[in-house]
Order: sequence, then structure tokens, then C-alpha cells
Amino acid sequence: MMNENFKPLFESIDFKNGLQLKNRVVMAPMTNFASHPDGTVSDEEIAYYERRSKGVGMVITACTYVTANGKGFHGEFGGHDDSMIPSFRRLASSIKAKGAKAVLQIFHGGRECPTELVPNGETVSASAVAKEGSDVTPRALTENEVEEMITAFGETTRRAIEAGFDGVEIHGANGYLIHQFFSPHSNRREDRFGGSLEKRLTFPLAVVDEVQKVVNAHAKEPFIVGYRFSPEEETTPGFTMADTLVLVDALADKGLDYLHVSLMDFWSEPRRGVDTTKLRIEYLLETIGNRVPFIGVGSIHTPEEAVKALSTGSSMVALGRELIMEPDWVEKVVEGKEAEIATTLSKKDQEKLIIPDYLWQAIINSPGWFPVVD
Ligand SMILES: Cc1cc2nc3c(=O)[nH]c(=O)nc-3n(C[C@H](O)[C@H](O)[C@H](O)COP(=O)(O)O)c2cc1C
Repeated sequence: MMNENFKPLFESIDFKNGLQLKNRVVMAPMTNFASHPDGTVSDEEIAYYERRSKGVGMVITACTYVTANGKGFHGEFGGHDDSMIPSFRRLASSIKAKGAKAVLQIFHGGRECPTELVPNGETVSASAVAKEGSDVTPRALTENEVEEMITAFGETTRRAIEAGFDGVEIHGANGYLIHQFFSPHSNRREDRFGGSLEKRLTFPLAVVDEVQKVVNAHAKEPFIVGYRFSPEEETTPGFTMADTLVLVDALADKGLDYLHVSLMDFWSEPRRGVDTTKLRIEYLLETIGNRVPFIGVGSIHTPEEAVKALSTGSSMVALGRELIMEPDWVEKVVEGKEAEIATTLSKKDQEKLIIPDYLWQAIINSPGWFPVVD
């Protein structure tokens, strides 16, 4: 029997577009490095998602690149061409068959792309400014190319619709292209896409508009559109918490189905731009109000922690690393077996947990990322 305290996790939630999630637990988007070099999804990747799609209300997939020069990871699956639709369809139906809504994360890596993954080794970004600590300077997109990039996000959305996904999440976080357009570090443009904070909002908001336009034109059933953002940058120049509240305020009026922060620690304090009397999550929720559902995330492991996270006013909680370590997280909570939830990873468990090889290697070889024991 489920512990009554965990009931808030199992209230359904209705999105603006009409879709309903059966509970408040979401699988965070996680790159798994397991797709084929041609951009199609692999059997081991499908098995990994199937293993994790039964309990949660919604699975947000690993990111997919919207143009060939946006591939940011080895083993990332492609969304840049209609030839990828069958691969998309396979992924969407394997998640949906287990009971979760399937949301595709759409992305362009910009200056973060490894040069060996992009045509002619040429990376692109808002401006020709290298990432701090990198000696690769991207080429600044022309104004015309920026327009084409916006269209590309729409095209990948159309492919997602045709393939049967329940929605897309626009990846505006973690230093990638959309983030690069919002950042005063990577965006030094002087056209309509840069120059002031307001102008640096132009690209992110144009991507939202384009994706929504495509959904209105092509989706025959309700289709989720979410947006993920990072709260702050470390660099100087770099956007601050105060800047992000301006972005979030604009996004909250866009008629999106949800906003999703990207954090490693749900309870973290702001770094710059606002005072630290409140948590980042508190600032974000205060700015958003009741305009749009919000997904919080970051080092949530137990159902107690998840309920506490919801008590802030977050509408949903996303679990990332925890669902890799414990695919049966939701089922165990429902069955009153929360004491059996694994919150560490044993080096013996790759097969049992169905974790693709490259993801497994990345986890094992990155000390401190996952709580690996023995
Ligand atoms: C293996 C791995 C891959 C990730 N890939 C992505 C990604 O493709 N897109 C994204 O927005 N975040 C990505 N993240 C970040 C997670 O979505 C999440 O924000 C982060 O892991 C913190 O949540 P957690 O503490 O529950 O893991 C990734 C995280 C991990 C562990």
C-alpha cells in the first residue's frame, strides 16, 4: 500500500492543450550516446527507454539535433531530415506503449558541438566567440541563416508530430545554441537578434513562435510544447538570475504547456543578479505565478524529497540520474516499497538496469557524477 504522504505525486495534471499526465513524475531529458552514427535510434536505446517508461507520467527524450551542424554528442539521434521520421516513430511508440507521454527534446549544439560531428568541422553560433577554455571559434550565423535555424526547429517539430510524439521540449538550456543567443557572452550581435537583453530574447521567442505555428498547422491531436532554460551563467559577461526572470516572464505569456528549469540541485541559491534571500526555484515560481505549469529538477532521489519539491509550488518533478539507477522508482512508491528504491549505482548493474554501453562508460568514468559504489 502506498504511503499517504506520497499522494501529491500521483495527482494527474492537465496541460493547456488538453493532454493529461497520470502523475507528477517526469523522466528528465538525458543523452545516452547510443544512437547509430547515421542518426537513427538503436535497439539498446529503445530497450533503455522501455525499461523507464511504465511509471512516470512523461518521458522527455535525449536531445535531437535540428540541423546537421547542430549535432552535439556522439551517438545523438538525428531530427534534421525527414529520413529520420521512422526512427522517431520507433522511439515515440516504444515510450507510449509503456504508458508515458513521449516528448522529444529538440536542440542545436551551436559552439558546443565537437568539430568532428559537424559538416566540414565548422561550428556555428550567435557570434564568433569561443566558449571559455576552448580554442574553437564558431562562425557567426548570418541573419538569413538565423531565420533558417528557426525554421529548422519547426521542421523537427513537424517530424515529431508525424512520428507520433506527444510533444516537444525546446532545449534552451545548458549552454547550447538557444542559450547562446540569450547569453551576452556568446551573443555579441548588433542586428535584431542581439545588442540588448530584450533583443537577445528574440531568437528564443521566435523558436517558440515557430514551433507553435507548426503545431497549429500540423497536429491533429493535442500536442505538448515545453521550454527548458538554465537559470544563470558563470561567465562574465553572462546572464544572471535577474536576466532569466525577464526571459521566463516572457515565456510564461507564450501559451506553452510547461516551463522546465535545468538545475543540478533543486534547492540551489541564485549566484548573481538577485539577492540570496530566496532560492532560484522560489524566484522562478514567483515570476511565473499561475500562468504555466513548471517542472523542477535536481538531485531528487527519494519520494520524500519529491513531495517536498512539489510543496514549493512546482507542478511536476523531473528525475534524471535517479531513474537511471532505479527504473522502477514510481512502481516502488506506489507499492509501498520505497525502502527498496536504489539511490546508488553498483558497478555490477549495467545489464540489470538496461543502460546502453556508452552511457554506462560515461557514468563509470566520470567520478562524482553518479553515486557509484563498489
Ligand atoms: C546522462 C545525462 C545526460 C543528460 N542529457 C541531457 C540532455 O540531453 N538534455 C538536457 O536538457 N539535460 C540533460 N541532462 C541533465 C538532466 O536532464 C538533469 O537536469 C540533471 O541530470 C539534474 O537532474 P538529476 O539530479 O535528477 O539527475 C543530462 C543528465 C545526465 C545525467
